[in-house]
Amino acid sequence: MGILVEAIGAHGPRGEKNVKDKLGRRIDYLRISVTDRCNLRCLYCMPAEGVAYKSHGDILSYEEIVRFAHAGAQLGIRRIRLTGGEPLVRAGLLELVRGLKAIPGIGELSLTSNGILLAPLAGRLKAAGLDRVNISLDTLDSQKYAQISRRDSLPAAWAGIRAALEVGLEPVKINTVALRGINEDELPALAALTLKHPLHVRFIEVMPLGDDLDWARQHLLPLNEVKDLIGTVGELAPARVAGSGPAHVYRFAGGLGTVGFIAALSHNFCHLCNRLRLTADGKLKPCLASDVEVDVKGALRAGADMGEIQALYRKAVALKPSRHKLQQYREQGRNMNQIGG
Ligand code: GTP
Ligand code: 5AD
Ligand code: SF4
Repeated sequence: MGILVEAIGAHGPRGEKNVKDKLGRRIDYLRISVTDRCNLRCLYCMPAEGVAYKSHGDILSYEEIVRFAHAGAQLGIRRIRLTGGEPLVRAGLLELVRGLKAIPGIGELSLTSNGILLAPLAGRLKAAGLDRVNISLDTLDSQKYAQISRRDSLPAAWAGIRAALEVGLEPVKINTVALRGINEDELPALAALTLKHPLHVRFIEVMPLGDDLDWARQHLLPLNEVKDLIGTVGELAPARVAGSGPAHVYRFAGGLGTVGFIAALSHNFCHLCNRLRLTADGKLKPCLASDVEVDVKGALRAGADMGEIQALYRKAVALKPSRHKLQQYREQGRNMNQIGG
């Protein structure tokens, strides 16, 4: 009971409700995974074969998602990010974008995607209310792309990035998982993209949330090593870019974009955590790296009212751990495609 009371939070400076957790972290950001399905099979995320996807009846409908987000907005959720799997493989996503953007209080709506299906959709997503996109890109080499993602789709991913820039889904951020012995040699070239393009390239330490924990451990490239590697491109100075994620951001002198570092393992950033995650099958996760979950699908399907849904948010906020234990390389219940990063 005590923890629940703390999680209900206080009213903010302008009278708005802020859901704060027991450590004072203000939770205003909801990541919504709309599907566990994906058109790639990245080495750090999913097994090559034998993936058992959730059935359509198992995953939340768009109506259920919007209803849930509405309740969150009344509690102080201000930003929403759509994730997957690959969110663009789910049919009718424009309808969800419109529905979420229409919720009073939701200021920013963003999407994390592999970019492959983005080019033909980018303009319509923007028109429907999507503000910006983060796109995965681990290499500039087609063969390497096919090795890492197990699909030969680099041109489509590039087309997605270009389309995002063209229609103004900005800032366009690039997610590059740094992998020892795999894309190490290309990291300077990826960082150098920010010199000539308004792209914000973030290097990410591989987290043990894929299929093979030993593989993740063997390929972890701590980001201080990445910083040394890309030092050949130029000197980095601290910078800023719109967003609310865990990246530490820098810029090369004269660069059009920025370079960021997301060091989940070597520099824990949990004290700044501002987020909850809704899985496609209707569980609210207090933390990316924990198996603790609050079921919301059951409540939504039983006709829960706004107050009852908000009690589930509060419960999840109260269950947020102070920090993750990813460095223990323990088996987790879900792979990354079932969480959304
Ligand atoms: P913005 O900064 O708002 O653009 O978003 P973001 O960087 O948080 O989102 P994105 O989906 O692009 O995630 C980039 C990487 O950060 C992915 O590898 C995520 O798994 C990782 N990430 C995002 N949030 C967390 C978090 O709370 N904890 C950890 N450990 N990693 C996270
Ligand atoms: N470790 C770190 N980042 C990961 N992503 C997927 N799996 C992992 C992992 N095991 C990243 C992807 C994508 C985002 C959703 O999460 O590159 O950009
Ligand atoms: Fe798909 Fe993203 Fe996982 Fe790659 S990291 S397999 S693009 S969900």
